[in-house]
Amino acid sequence: MKNDETLNVNKNNWENLYSEKTTFLQYPADWIIRFHNLYLKKNLPSGKVLDYGCGTGNNSIFFLDKGYEVWGIDVTESYKKLVKANMESRGHNVSLMEKFAVLSPDAKRLPYEDNFFDLIVANQVLYYLPTEEHIKKIVQEFHRCLKPGGTVFITMMGPKNYYIVYHAKQILNNNVYEIHFDDPNDRLKGYREFIYLVRDESELCHLFSEFTPVNIGYLDQGLFTVKSNFHWIFVGQKK
Ligand SMILES: C[S@@+](CC[C@H](N)C(=O)[O-])C[C@H]1O[C@@H](n2cnc3c(N)ncnc32)[C@H](O)[C@@H]1O
Repeated sequence: MKNDETLNVNKNNWENLYSEKTTFLQYPADWIIRFHNLYLKKNLPSGKVLDYGCGTGNNSIFFLDKGYEVWGIDVTESYKKLVKANMESRGHNVSLMEKFAVLSPDAKRLPYEDNFFDLIVANQVLYYLPTEEHIKKIVQEFHRCLKPGGTVFITMMGPKNYYIVYHAKQILNNNVYEIHFDDPNDRLKGYREFIYLVRDESELCHLFSEFTPVNIGYLDQGLFTVKSNFHWIFVGQKK
């Protein structure tokens, strides 16, 4: 399977999901709330935030609620109507949608100026890219678009994650796994995705070596069919 095909399979999965829904994922991820409480409140209480792969805008809207200026970008077209619905339900002015853009899945450049953002968040997104080169290219763009000293918050799937342990069908190359959800009772029934796995902390730091690590952590919840939601959490600073 070619890299472009895996990019498009992943994009179409999300496009289909968002097209079918009128509301979906309204609440911020709890690790984003903790990151805010433990780090941002003290170190970056305001500023410009990019939510890369923002999906329904659940986390974007959390940052708006906290007083940040927020930009969002995603590869799907249909994500915007969900962000808009979430904004309306939280009482935000929908003119803020002007800051939400659509990106081609194989884009090599982000549509922002150099040194623009204080924080870039890529929560559960970068593993949809098919090679280390693709990921590094976008990470270089994060670096370009961040102000000096700016912060990145990135999560990547790790080997314990239930996608990898229970749903991986084959390995395309060293790091990319084809994931199928076959169980008719599964909430993700019929899904097929390609996921770039990060095995350990040294791989994580290598991928994001453009940044000085501020904290290497992880999240891992086991709830019902989500037996482990293990993701690495990389917090870094522009050198
Ligand atoms: C698991 S969802 C995460 C959404 C959101 N960041 C969150 O935390 O709820 C993955 C998102 O990444 C987007 N996505 C997939 N491939 C992408 C790519 N190559 N570049 C940017 N976004 C991508 C999908 O459309 C989807 O909205």
